Amino acid sequence: MKPNRRQVLAGAAAAVALGPQSVLAAGSKVLRAAPAMAQIAPPEFAQTPVWAFDGTAPGPVLRYTQGARLQRQLVNALPQPTAVHWHGIRIDNAMDGVPDLTQSAVPPGESFDYDFVLPDAGTYWYHSHNQSMEQVARGLSGALIVDEATDGPALDGERVWLLDDWRLDPESIEIHDSFGAFHDLSHAGRIGNIVTTNGTFELTDKVRAGDRLRLRLINAANARIFELGLQGLRGWIVALDGMPLARPRPVPDRFALAPAQRVDLIVDVIAGAGEPAHLLRHEREGAISQVWIEVAEGTTPRVRAAPQPLPPNPDFGAPEMRDARAVGVLMQGGAMRGMAGGAEYRGRKLDMRALAREGMFWALNGQADRNARPLFRASRGETVRIAFANDTAFPHAMHLHGHHFHLVGEDGRIGDLRDTILVDAGRTAEVALRCHNPGKWLFHCHMLGHAAAGMMTWYEVS
Ligand code: C2O
Ligand code: CU
Repeated sequence: MKPNRRQVLAGAAAAVALGPQSVLAAGSKVLRAAPAMAQIAPPEFAQTPVWAFDGTAPGPVLRYTQGARLQRQLVNALPQPTAVHWHGIRIDNAMDGVPDLTQSAVPPGESFDYDFVLPDAGTYWYHSHNQSMEQVARGLSGALIVDEATDGPALDGERVWLLDDWRLDPESIEIHDSFGAFHDLSHAGRIGNIVTTNGTFELTDKVRAGDRLRLRLINAANARIFELGLQGLRGWIVALDGMPLARPRPVPDRFALAPAQRVDLIVDVIAGAGEPAHLLRHEREGAISQVWIEVAEGTTPRVRAAPQPLPPNPDFGAPEMRDARAVGVLMQGGAMRGMAGGAEYRGRKLDMRALAREGMFWALNGQADRNARPLFRASRGETVRIAFANDTAFPHAMHLHGHHFHLVGEDGRIGDLRDTILVDAGRTAEVALRCHNPGKWLFHCHMLGHAAAGMMTWYEVS
């Protein structure tokens, strides 16, 4: 599809002309960010004005084969500058979509050509990375699926379920414009009052008894940690944050999916035709159906063997723990704990009150917000061990751009490869990354209000 000038202008808030960058690279397709309408609330309610990629919230499922090049021209028809981050992709730094670190934000009416190779198969996602706290909450996210270049386990089907929540004004059904409300920033973040799957309230799906399915779950919410479970389905976790597990692991009764995290499951439909099956969400008041699954006649459900692991992604080297450089990350701030000693913000030491006036409520190692100095610099091939200490009263989903890292157990054992780790309140956690991807990379909490309120730094690999 070729964008024409009128199309681009139609949704823009102001009459804006396309910049010179709008000439499409060969083979490039458009990804257009613009206002749209979506049925977020239950069907008896009105539609909600959202910001959408290609007219839908979430945006289209972008699907490629491992090793392919993603070429998309972001066309900004929003009333704000924007940029797209390709979450979890071990990407070329210039394509990472972080304003003022890897590119300039794209002004309204202009465009930016994203063009990069997808080294890894798996479940990823894309989202706005400018004023993310607002832009992601308005709908600017979508699934990015990279298929294995070789055949994986035999399946009867696959589902991509992007979970999200929305804060709607109960009267107008519009997105509540309380972005950056100090209470959200300093507490658990912006938690919505409508939970959706693929943008739909109470999504229903149909399967057949006995089917074996791959479920790709993505948490695109600003701050909500989903506690999930299965009913009528039984299966295995086969990948976390896109990366295959060496051995599939039975799905536990309950499992957490923190903001930005993904989990791939292979499940067998063990419910018979007409019996209940659900993706469940556990809330204080009990289990709620996140996806309502109708089971049709199929084969007789039977106990099946665990699937083969997914083919591994390229190995950029295991961490070398003996020569690793140690980096501590002290997470501080927020309601109920605060930062007694204040923190440095824009080169000045401020006390808590002065920080709050700047909208800053969190710090990493005494630094609020991204500083001129990186958290660490490392060279390619080097291993960095990061020890998190969460000295706050809230859990945080810590995310590194550019690399996946290995979890490190208390016994020092190397665990799963992830790009986002949930560090519970008052807890410590350790990860190790073998640096292989040069560039300046962001490092932040994926509770987007926390990131906007100081829990953000960066690191550099050269
Ligand atoms: Cu989904 Cu800075 O990330
Ligand atoms: Cu946080």
